[in-house]
Amino acid sequence: MAGRKLIQTKDGSSSVYDAYWNASFHSIHGAITESNQVYIISGLQQLQFNGPSLQIFEFGFGTGLNAFLSLAYSQELSIPIEYTVIDSCILEMDLVYQLDYPKQSNLRKYADSFYRMHQVSWGKPSQIDTNFTLHKIQLDWNLFEPEFEQHFDLIYFDAFGPEVQPELWNYDSLLKTHKILKLGGLLCTYCAKGSVKRLLKQIGFKVESLNGPPGKREITRAVKL
Ligand SMILES: C[S@@+](CC[C@H](N)C(=O)[O-])C[C@H]1O[C@@H](n2cnc3c(N)ncnc32)[C@H](O)[C@@H]1O
Repeated sequence: MAGRKLIQTKDGSSSVYDAYWNASFHSIHGAITESNQVYIISGLQQLQFNGPSLQIFEFGFGTGLNAFLSLAYSQELSIPIEYTVIDSCILEMDLVYQLDYPKQSNLRKYADSFYRMHQVSWGKPSQIDTNFTLHKIQLDWNLFEPEFEQHFDLIYFDAFGPEVQPELWNYDSLLKTHKILKLGGLLCTYCAKGSVKRLLKQIGFKVESLNGPPGKREITRAVKL
């Protein structure tokens, strides 16, 4: 998509700015720091693994950073992850090659997997690494009809903010996330807006406000009751 360009964030890691939405893919205070805190520490690391695999769903593949950090976790702990992600607008490969995530000292050993995640076909599951399968769905979330009821242990809800795309944060949109989660499953998001938290409660989540990464006082974790 025209109008996307690489940016540097304050922890030294890169991200992408989208001129159409006038929004960046991650916090300008630190892309890797934010992804780690919101999705890996507050979500993935909280899951009990009872086998045979963890099922994760992400809204918004984007740079693949959340998927990449999850892949590193699956390799380091030998926990199989089946990762499903939806995105309507795929990032161009010339931008993918400019991202510095696979050059980070702790992630360098997974660099080939990072590029493989971006190169594999959309629309079918692909084995990326020993413990990591990726199924990329190219579709507008508004058209997504969940066929996976009660399927996922964890959702990373990483849409652009409610001010930018309010239709992704309304009752019907959030209800879809509730449907595809297992009982006790978690939804994590950087968004801490009061109206979004109230909708999540109304839909049937228990909502927790957690400390946010730099530049963000709180983030949200919701548990499906
Ligand atoms: C905040 S970015 C996601 C960042 C990503 N998780 C990462 O780590 O780079 C939001 C993403 O949502 C996608 N998106 C926007 N509207 C969408 C829609 N209606 N359906 C599906 N994806 C959408 C954009 O293409 C973009 O990749």
